[in-house]
Amino acid sequence: MNRNRINIPLKLLYLQGKSPLFRIILNFVFPIMTELKTPDISIIDIDKIRADFPILSDKVNGKPLIYFDNGATSQKPIQVIETITNYYKHQNANIHRGVHTLSQEITVAYENARATVQKHLNALYSHEIIFTSGTTESINLVAHSFAKQFLSNGDEVIVTAMEHHSNILPWQMVCEERGALLKVVPINSDGELILEEYKKLLNKKTKIVAVTHISNTLGTINPVKEIIDLAHAQNIPVLVDGAQAVPHTFVNVQDMDADFYCFSGHKLFGPTGVGVLYGKEKWLNQLPPYKVGGGTIKTVSFERTEYADLPLKFEAGTPHIEGGIGLAVAIDYVNEIGLDKIAAYEHDLLEYATGLLQKTDGVKIIGTAKNKASVISFVVEGLHAFDIGTILDQLGIAVRTGHHCTQPLMTHYCIQGTVRAAFAFYNTKQEIDLFIQGLERAIKMLR
Ligand SMILES: Cc1ncc(COP(=O)(O)O)c(C=O)c1O
Repeated sequence: MNRNRINIPLKLLYLQGKSPLFRIILNFVFPIMTELKTPDISIIDIDKIRADFPILSDKVNGKPLIYFDNGATSQKPIQVIETITNYYKHQNANIHRGVHTLSQEITVAYENARATVQKHLNALYSHEIIFTSGTTESINLVAHSFAKQFLSNGDEVIVTAMEHHSNILPWQMVCEERGALLKVVPINSDGELILEEYKKLLNKKTKIVAVTHISNTLGTINPVKEIIDLAHAQNIPVLVDGAQAVPHTFVNVQDMDADFYCFSGHKLFGPTGVGVLYGKEKWLNQLPPYKVGGGTIKTVSFERTEYADLPLKFEAGTPHIEGGIGLAVAIDYVNEIGLDKIAAYEHDLLEYATGLLQKTDGVKIIGTAKNKASVISFVVEGLHAFDIGTILDQLGIAVRTGHHCTQPLMTHYCIQGTVRAAFAFYNTKQEIDLFIQGLERAIKMLR
């Protein structure tokens, strides 16, 4: 049913009339129709979803697994697992280089996977989708190729205080190589970017801005569109690290107007070792290849090489074929559930867990932004995150402990590390209850 199509005339009736019929529509029919528009999180069939993830039925240390380490990597539905085994059982061949049937069929499947990613991100062209090994490689590709072409002595690159090391180190390295400066947008005590400071950092020397969409440690959802608009006002391109965003939210690269957008398959319920770099055609065409070799060329002689067009120019060597195909299946899987429902369901989990953690003695949540994804980092007064994580593990509860590859952020908060619980759509409130009980037990044991 197209709810919008029904709602528009009803609203017109509401504005127009006072007749009894209109009043009936106004008082009874319209509220029902409006109610239909609010996302109903109960529409998520949690039992059916959990049954799709074989690992969720496993025991760890004799206890049913409660997997809250989704920020590090997500679990895989059976549809993805079977796609990969089927590839090795019945489809295995190399792509883009064979006349035989298997090679041609798998080439089509791989290119269809690229088209699935294009559609999912709403990219304009499928050749704007480059398959990489993950977010880290995508950012390295842009940093190194961009620096080669555009970065000189005295130029500036802007990152933020909440970046993952994967969105700091490549920029730090190319800045050192080129004599450029790395500038850092600071955050406030809630873990939100201070946009007034960002505005002050943008200037004629700024060559690129690299920012995370969602912080893997704090859960903060950054206002990337605003960040991009401000940079574009000065013709500065922006790379968005979407590693933590793509599993939780709709990403529309055209609407956002991102110049580059990166993510990893394994955090999106897909295989490890595959990821995506989206780049606007105009930028990718200007960048030199990052890695070179088989697959990236049109012609080679010992005197001169002519490189292939997009996307192959950036895809050297045999790619992670089953990874690309498995990623497309994972994308279809989340779309089947609906990212709007996933976001609403996970937000409910976030609020529930936040409420319980706030009541837990000695717990301090790190990252209290107004706009947050389903990631909670916390410290417990006087206790080491590692010790808490170890006791929770004995109870079958997997959380992440440590600096989460965001050491500058730890320095900012004057802490060594946090315990991080990151929820996915297959987690439940019952699991959160058990986690809180386990945490209380750990605190008691360690005090
Ligand atoms: C925000 C963010 N960026 C980048 C990465 C690196 O991703 P990968 O290890 O898949 O390359 C991660 C991984 O945790 C992340 O959370």
